[in-house]
Amino acid sequence: MPARLFSFIGGETGRWRITEMEAIVGEPLPAAIRLEIASGSEIPSDPHASWVLRGITSNERYVDREERRQIVAKLLDLGRPDATCAALIPIRKNEAWWALTQEERLSIFKEQSRHTKIGLEHFPTLARRLHHCRDLSENEPFDFITWFEYAPSDEVRFNNLLAALRAIPEWQYVEREVDIRLERDQV
Ligand code: HEM
Repeated sequence: MPARLFSFIGGETGRWRITEMEAIVGEPLPAAIRLEIASGSEIPSDPHASWVLRGITSNERYVDREERRQIVAKLLDLGRPDATCAALIPIRKNEAWWALTQEERLSIFKEQSRHTKIGLEHFPTLARRLHHCRDLSENEPFDFITWFEYAPSDEVRFNNLLAALRAIPEWQYVEREVDIRLERDQV
């Protein structure tokens, strides 16, 4: 069974070099120069780690069958040799979001915000993995850890997608978002 738990360790070691860290909303994260990603429950000990973010992949909450068909048909794999750029964007939503019912959240995510459609329109092949944090413990600093990989030539396209998502009603519930950009060492 593939690992579901992932740890993102910001410090001085790891395959990914951090090129930019920007707090879009809320508190920033402490500075780090490299990122290590560990899967499973083992977290490599890095005495110089500035932060460790943990999240777990989960079942979908908001996709219908047709959307899932499109996502599966188009999504590229993580770890492609040409995808040397990445974005790690941890996100926390506010209490008002979590006080909504699942139906209300679905309506905001899908009908009012068109999150999945906007994603597929802007960048149908974007390699991504969504991790949930809330079920791990009560004190995780974020609710979601999002991870994306793309080729350097797709950076503008990725930035346009992000700008479009940050303008949708769903994003009004985001109370903390840190945009971390990375580049991978050539192997
Ligand atoms: C091709 C681009 C994208 C597509 C197709 C896409 C699609 C999706 C889908 C289908 C879900 C819901 C999963 C579920 O059913 O539980 C989701 C959730 C999410 N996505 Fe995206 N997404 C894209 C890009 C992005 C980007 C660039 C961000 C920026 C950080 C982002 C942030 C999130 C977050 C935070 C969630 C969790 C929302 C929640 O459960 O409240 N997505 N995305």
